[in-house]
Amino acid sequence: MLTALYIAQEQEGCLTSEALKRIAERLRLPESEVFSTASFYTLFRTEPVGRYVIQVCKGLSCYLVGGAERLVDYLERKLEIKAGETTPDGLFTLETVQCLASCGTAPAMRVNDELYENLTTEKVDMLVDQLRERAERWAALNQS
Ligand code: FES
Repeated sequence: MLTALYIAQEQEGCLTSEALKRIAERLRLPESEVFSTASFYTLFRTEPVGRYVIQVCKGLSCYLVGGAERLVDYLERKLEIKAGETTPDGLFTLETVQCLASCGTAPAMRVNDELYENLTTEKVDMLVDQLRERAERWAALNQS
């Protein structure tokens, strides 16, 4: 089921209720089981999001090294959005999550499927700028 959910999300950007129903049908599982699994994992989303989904860990280890709040505050200012929102250009969605299973290298955050560890505001700054540049280059390539 997890693989099916992952593929559906990759194809459509998020897990629509139609996609969840199709998965339940194909796997011959109750819809409630598929819906509850999709809502349990932070990896899955049922609402449209930005091209890059930034998930900052607010778990205990990240909090104790002073990373969580500082990184969220920094990203909110840099992206000019609050956690839970998407930038108007649809490029970034900022979320907070509980524990990315990288406690030994806290503070951590995930951008789409990539995990970033031992973060500082400088590293976050560079990463966001790189992602923005990558998106601009991609847009320029598609226009030519
Ligand atoms: S608490 Fe942040 S990775 Fe575990």
